[in-house]
Amino acid sequence: MKKIFPGLILLTILGLVTLSFEGVDGTYELSDYTPDDTLTFVVPEGWPQPLYDFDKNPLTKNGIALGRKLFYDDMLSRDSTVSCAFCHLSYTNFTHIDHKLSHGIEDRIGTRNTLSIMNLAWYNTFMWDGGITNLDVQPLAPLTSFFEMDMDPDELITRLESSSEYPKLFKQAFGKDADVSGYYMFRAMSQFILTLNTYNSKYDKVMRKEAGATFTEREQKGLEVFRAKCASCHKEPLFTDGTFRNNGLAVDTNLNDGGRIKITRNIDDSLKFKVPSLRNIEVSYPYMHDGRYKSLQMILFHYSNGITDSKTLDPALKKGLNMGEDDKRNLIIFLKTLTDISFIRNKAHADPNRY
Ligand code: HEC
Ligand code: HEC
Repeated sequence: MKKIFPGLILLTILGLVTLSFEGVDGTYELSDYTPDDTLTFVVPEGWPQPLYDFDKNPLTKNGIALGRKLFYDDMLSRDSTVSCAFCHLSYTNFTHIDHKLSHGIEDRIGTRNTLSIMNLAWYNTFMWDGGITNLDVQPLAPLTSFFEMDMDPDELITRLESSSEYPKLFKQAFGKDADVSGYYMFRAMSQFILTLNTYNSKYDKVMRKEAGATFTEREQKGLEVFRAKCASCHKEPLFTDGTFRNNGLAVDTNLNDGGRIKITRNIDDSLKFKVPSLRNIEVSYPYMHDGRYKSLQMILFHYSNGITDSKTLDPALKKGLNMGEDDKRNLIIFLKTLTDISFIRNKAHADPNRY
């Protein structure tokens, strides 16, 4: 660590000096923290209640700001090259579009396509196989994964404690007794992640009957095809029903990813993966758990002509989804109405060092 951060020792000394000076001086005020500073999580009209327990981790401005800073900090990876945002880029719906499979430190290639991060308050299972059931511990997986950030959690806490900024930010977010710890770090990250909500696409505006928002004829026809063929799994308004299913992808024999069976050890779950949300799907290619498809055209070809049968194939897909060329075209036009520019261009979600 000393080799990697020659300046860190100096920063540490400066940081400590400032803190103790302020402490002794009595000017070290934590005025920014007040327990009443809690923000209310907005549930869009007509949406289900979120599953995240906000009572256990109330959102505050300082908590969110700390989480955002951590999310964009390269220091969270062993060689300080990869932040969470390295793979989860705000302008591509918090996923990585340059790589089929996740791409971590030292160009290590993982085994799955990066998932988008959005509307996660409405989930209680995370990852393609649902292997994680609590958002507040989710970051431990990428942090410690050999292929992603390859970081030792104790070393991370040491780094944060030694930084000139973090100790103060933790106190500002969680109170004067809050030391730098995994407990608070994960809570702050959840708080930031819980602000990444997308519900202002054209689709949403039309559904809310906002003035001037109407579908074109093709978009409307596409919605009808969607409701007939896709919505049983990609359920509105989240565009997922939160289940795990086998949608008929041929097994990639290099990766041999069994999906949900890895977690449940139940043979009936073989080749089942999370039904992903389709919000902002236009910008979050490549698609599927292994990033095998680059375009929405390829996706529709898969559902109409490319389904591979197997014991766990979803019954809804046994015969493939018959769609004519016009249906397909309209469906793609509809899917693009799920793009929420205000979400992907939101500066409050972007790198705090730039905005
Ligand atoms: C090297 C790329 C990479 C980095 C760095 C990375 N992730 Fe991920 N992230 C992924 C991949 C790949 C998945 C899907 C993993 C799986 O299903 O096995 C994922 C999944 C997730 C999910 C679950 C989303 C869902 O819908 O279930 C969350 C939340 C998440 N990451 C947050 C983070 C946070 C927070 C960090 C930083 C501590 C981070 N990620 C760092 C690649 C990355
Ligand atoms: C039986 C349930 C089911 C039906 C019906 C279904 N899907 Fe899916 N969809 C899934 C599952 C499961 C996945 C993830 C599979 C994987 O990666 O292994 C998926 C993945 C996708 C993806 C990739 C998303 C991403 O972020 O990688 C797109 C796009 C998609 N579906 C669109 C559609 C469209 C359009 C239809 C209708 C023509 C449809 N789906 C019908 C279950 C379904």
